[in-house]
Amino acid sequence: MSTARLEEVRRAFVAELEQAGTSADGVEKVRVKFAGQRSGKLKELAEALRALPNDQKRDYGRALNELKQEIESRLAEAKQAAVTEIRVKDPGTANAKGHAPTVAVGRPVDVTLPGLPVARGAEHPVHIVRRRIEEIFLRMGYDVEAGPEVEDDWHNFEALNIPPDHPARDDQDTFYLADGHLLRTHTSPVQARVMESRQPPIRIVVPGRVFRRDSDLRHSPMFHQIEGLLVDEGITFGHLKATLEAFLHELFSDRVAVRLRPGYFPFTEPSAEVDISCIFCAQKGCGVCSGSGWIEILGSGMVDPRVFEAVGIDAGRYTGFAFGLGLDRVAMLVYGIPDLRQLFAGDQRLTRQFA
Ligand code: PHE
Repeated sequence: MSTARLEEVRRAFVAELEQAGTSADGVEKVRVKFAGQRSGKLKELAEALRALPNDQKRDYGRALNELKQEIESRLAEAKQAAVTEIRVKDPGTANAKGHAPTVAVGRPVDVTLPGLPVARGAEHPVHIVRRRIEEIFLRMGYDVEAGPEVEDDWHNFEALNIPPDHPARDDQDTFYLADGHLLRTHTSPVQARVMESRQPPIRIVVPGRVFRRDSDLRHSPMFHQIEGLLVDEGITFGHLKATLEAFLHELFSDRVAVRLRPGYFPFTEPSAEVDISCIFCAQKGCGVCSGSGWIEILGSGMVDPRVFEAVGIDAGRYTGFAFGLGLDRVAMLVYGIPDLRQLFAGDQRLTRQFA
């Protein structure tokens, strides 16, 4: 055993480490072979020291130490390179937005780079309001229904007692499609759809998108409503009032006062506009309630017998009530959002506040 043997081992180590390259497994094998605690080459070389004549021990010992240091530092470097240069084996699946994965198989990945933050979504304020209202009515035994956004004239207007020349059509500037269909201007057509397809008792709420040709601070060409309809024997205006009061107390607070004013809708008779006492100023008068102390919150009324006739329900036997309110308006009130259009701008700085 001599320093020449040390040089031999050194060369073998360098060559084998080179070959292992950035394979973590390969580097580990080289480590075990040369620096392994139990049977590595270094251990073998250290044991050989004892057998050497005394005058050779010093030189051999020093050379062995140098070799040991070199092997250890090169192994450390190779290990580092191996973890920082793993290669993509599985490109993964498309992400949630449906974008194809951007990493290609075989491409090196620097795993020491900080990870990309995972973008977390948040529930949209209009959706929060919709879910809360649905929950309230589900507890009262209502079902949640849906209907088409592209409607026909009959369901959106005619069945709801709004004939072609009726002035109420002017209030609801309608988007018409080339084939005579239209974008529903309210969720009320779903009342007609449900009543023509089944007999009472009917208890439903219908959340959905509606469309009108309107756009300013308080109006958007698309907004959200939720419709309510209850039809059964012996339903009176008292049931309507009690239901709306219970609902509004639950949604806002037990302390809000509820006020019914006479109103007009072609499909309800009598009709009532419903206000709540201003939740911002305790009726002292503020900007939100325009100094009146009241905030208009929904439209309602007893189902007009002509609507029952149109959808094939016996108006002699059944009565019912209906109501409709704007979800966006409630979200603006509850969360203090000043411009309706902010709700639909898709700006995550808004929705993130609701995470
Ligand atoms: N559809 C009415 C609107 O859009 C609201 C409403 C629904 C009124 C049901 C009465 C009954 O303004």
